[in-house]
Amino acid sequence: MELPRELTSALRSAERVAVLSGAGMSAESGVPTFRDAQTGLWEQYAAEDLATPEAWERDRAFVWAWYLWRFGRIRHVAPNAGHRALADWARRSSGPHIGVVTQNVDDLHERAGSNPVVHLHGSVAAYRCEACAAPYDAPIHLPDEAVHRIEPPTCPRCGHSVRPGVVWFGEMLPMDEWHRGVEIVEQADLVLVVGTSGIVHPAAGLPAIARAAGARVVEVNPVDTEVSDVAHHVLRETAAAALPVLVAAAGDG
Ligand code: OAD
Repeated sequence: MELPRELTSALRSAERVAVLSGAGMSAESGVPTFRDAQTGLWEQYAAEDLATPEAWERDRAFVWAWYLWRFGRIRHVAPNAGHRALADWARRSSGPHIGVVTQNVDDLHERAGSNPVVHLHGSVAAYRCEACAAPYDAPIHLPDEAVHRIEPPTCPRCGHSVRPGVVWFGEMLPMDEWHRGVEIVEQADLVLVVGTSGIVHPAAGLPAIARAAGARVVEVNPVDTEVSDVAHHVLRETAAAALPVLVAAAGDG
């Protein structure tokens, strides 16, 4: 993979890097994306039946079972070479500060060793009460196979149902996470946009915020996306192929 000279020099001189990751970041770990033809979750399931407050109101046990199945799959996969390269870069003594801002609910960046990781769309590890929002920390059994319906547990504080700690269509992003994400992006001198279709806002607006704030923007994605035009450099490669090359090109600082 040939890297343009300006990109290599941006990688070598970067002091603060923001990584904006989407589902493609985890695809090579075996976590399906949402919109890729054939394998994308929204190609096989209707988002409105599963990822909306209305779906939850209609049939909590159906939605709960689907999320537990997805979370169970995540537990059995491992960070890929892309996740590991980012964490290794941040661990170098002369490496840049790297903030990850992800739309993914999986914990693969954390398991690779990245820190901080801001979850714009929630996380596998953040069950909470649907009514009083109290976090729910009791162990939850994740099925290994898809199960059609599982009744969610109830909140020990108020008795309402416990829900997945994810953002559904039509819901607000967690504001603290959003503000932290914007801050990381605005402070970065280099921004890597990895594996997102750039369709879902407001997350899809972060690359443009980065560019307006003066960062050099690099997209890593095998195909053209809604945010490709914002990038200074576009690498038509997968995350696990491109990120180790970018990190190697950054040298020791
Ligand atoms: P999408 O499924 O919309 O897009 C995945 C992107 O990853 C596509 O542009 C693919 O080309 C790219 N891709 C696939 N494999 C890749 C690989 N190995 N390396 C790099 N890129 C790869 O996923 P997101 O953009 O993350 O929201 O979707 C955004 C949001 O829509 C999700 O967070 C979720 C979904 O509905 C909520 O649930 C709120």
